[in-house]
Amino acid sequence: MTPSVQLRRAAASLNFLLLIFFLISHQLAAADKFTVGDQQGWNPNVNYTVWVEKHKPFHVGDWLIFYYPTGMADVIQVDEAGYNKCDASNPISNYSKGRSYAFELNHTGNYYFICSRGSCFGGMRLAIVSHHLPPPSPPPSSHNHSVAPRLLVSDVFLLLLLTAVTASALLRL
Ligand SMILES: *[C@@H]1O[C@H](CO)[C@@H](O)[C@H](O)[C@H]1NC(C)=O
Ligand SMILES: *[C@@H]1O[C@H](CO)[C@@H](O)[C@H](O)[C@H]1NC(C)=O
Ligand SMILES: *[C@@H]1O[C@H](CO)[C@@H](O)[C@H](O)[C@H]1NC(C)=O
Repeated sequence: MTPSVQLRRAAASLNFLLLIFFLISHQLAAADKFTVGDQQGWNPNVNYTVWVEKHKPFHVGDWLIFYYPTGMADVIQVDEAGYNKCDASNPISNYSKGRSYAFELNHTGNYYFICSRGSCFGGMRLAIVSHHLPPPSPPPSSHNHSVAPRLLVSDVFLLLLLTAVTASALLRL
């Protein structure tokens, strides 16, 4: 095998790896996963208003992951009044099993979560607004469930370029 063939083979494999990496990274970018509270998790004495300001905007298709010590917290989805009053008596959803809970933002609009175990007034409540992808949002009447791809035009060019270079390198082997 001549060095130039080896070189071309190496280049082809490198391009192929880049292609795979590109596809995987963009697949992941389509829906973001947010750990509520970051390292502090879903716990008393964390200011989730500050956390939301740091991580917004949130989009349809994103996931909120709540991590909490087993048996010490719950995640109660409530309406705005329930959020303001720390009132869990009228839950939209209610989760308290295990040590984590993954929640998908499957529609646009407001989401409110509180902990019903006494720490809500101390700050253990979360208010999130979920936006269409990509913003700015179309009329709220369209409840489109599908996640629009976040591919930019420059990404598409890069993808086509990588594919073409890989293909031509493989053909020349
Ligand atoms: C959540 O559900 C559990 C089990 O169904 C129930 O015992 C608990 O009272 C509920 N909590 C709230 C705040 O609705
Ligand atoms: C979002 O998920 C909830 C809970 O699974 C479900 O009741 C609701 O119908 C879903 N909404 C949409 C727009 O898919
Ligand atoms: C959280 O931080 C915000 C902004 O700094 C502040 O307005 C709010 O009072 C804080 N909430 C709690 C429960 O400390």
